[in-house]
Amino acid sequence: MDRFLVEGGRPLQGAVTASGSKNAALPMLAASLLFEGPAVYRRVPDLADLRTLFRLLQDLGAEVQVQGDRVQTEVPSHGPTEAPYEVVRKMRASVAVLGPLLARRGRARVSLPGGCVLGDRPIDLHLKGLHALGADLQVRHGIVEAQAPAGGLRGGTVYLASSRGSTVLGTANVMMAASLAKGVTVIEAAAEEPEIEALAALLNRAGACIHGAGSHRLEIEGVEALHGGECEIPPDRIETGTLLLAGALTRGRVRVNDCRPDELTVLLDLFHRAGVPFAQGGDGGEAGLRPWLEVQPWPNPPRVLDVATRPFPGFPTDLQAQWLAFCTAGEGLALVTDTVYPDRFMHVPELNRLGAGIRREGNTALVVGPVRLSGAPVLASDLRASAALVLAGLVASGQTIVRRVYHLDRGYEALEEKLRQLGGRVVRERDPESP
Ligand code: EPU
Repeated sequence: MDRFLVEGGRPLQGAVTASGSKNAALPMLAASLLFEGPAVYRRVPDLADLRTLFRLLQDLGAEVQVQGDRVQTEVPSHGPTEAPYEVVRKMRASVAVLGPLLARRGRARVSLPGGCVLGDRPIDLHLKGLHALGADLQVRHGIVEAQAPAGGLRGGTVYLASSRGSTVLGTANVMMAASLAKGVTVIEAAAEEPEIEALAALLNRAGACIHGAGSHRLEIEGVEALHGGECEIPPDRIETGTLLLAGALTRGRVRVNDCRPDELTVLLDLFHRAGVPFAQGGDGGEAGLRPWLEVQPWPNPPRVLDVATRPFPGFPTDLQAQWLAFCTAGEGLALVTDTVYPDRFMHVPELNRLGAGIRREGNTALVVGPVRLSGAPVLASDLRASAALVLAGLVASGQTIVRRVYHLDRGYEALEEKLRQLGGRVVRERDPESP
């Protein structure tokens, strides 16, 4: 197991390029199970979660060829239909093979993911959506056994939200299954995340007929078959936000090239209100330059601001931990509430080891800034929590040792290299204390 040694105290300076989005790539690659022909994906990030998905696809009979950030898949129509517990336990997004398997191979056995460090994460909405398409679903011994009716899945109407909002992967699963169902499916309260738009665009290019992606109502007219095609994974908005917050926290100047500013308007609005200067450009105008975002050194300490996480276009839960780390540099009192995952606060006690003084009450963390953080050994608990600890380490005095960085490797492509490119002092080494 690896660990990071982070030396704090130096403002980040420079430019890096956004990697392809993990959360877009996972369902887009799972979609290859639907395609008759080969599919080519470009800008696929080199991440542990993607490697887990490749192995699962191979176990399901797919041919997967990886050459740098280009991945080619080809999946036969017949083959295994099981996603076992060992895989789903490792990566919850494996559940995204359920809809495609059911649609193309008529059946699927997918282990229930259960909870994770973010708390209880049910998949009842995925099952509700697939049931609306006529699937027979039984849960036995912790496994979802799904069977399409004799004539195949058929269109239906389903409302796909819980009290915490819509479901991203649930919407993806039902949309993928519906694209090969007979007739029209309507998903009400669909997730509006950009990752759903990217998936719908891929499916439409492969011959699907999906309208309304990016809105709360999706209409999908089923087609006989989907062919493959080529696509580029969109830039990772959460990685971009994390790097910008690292820049803002260290009072640096950080530019993220080839990103999507329109997917981060909520963060830009917070920067504006907090008094963190930023600039954006690109948009094809300047000699075809791809869009970029840059945070700039603040003239006065930023004001900390209350934030509540919400589904897109609200503040993403996947930036909550990093925002909390940023708040330690600001002035005032901020309440940071996670309405999507009320238990996603494993980073709080670790940030407190660095002196953050954060108090947690239920699904809210209270931070009073500014605080001077001091380096210490900390334990990463999940992907975004790990990122928050690295960010905090960049401003803490002395050395912060972040252990269990395999969590980071699941979802950030070469984060330590990007931070080093920005002048951050982050070194990866084998953890001598790991077994
Ligand atoms: N929910 C239900 N029932 C369901 C599904 C979800 O009640 O059947 C609840 C969840 O418990 C949660 C809320 O609905 O409270 C939203 O969950 P959602 O299904 O949208 O999450 P997801 O699709 O499983 C994706 C991302 C997560 C991200 C969430 C929310 C992927 C692979 N994962 O998960 O990303 O936090 O959406 O935006 O796309 C991460 O990258 O660190 C990460 C955890």
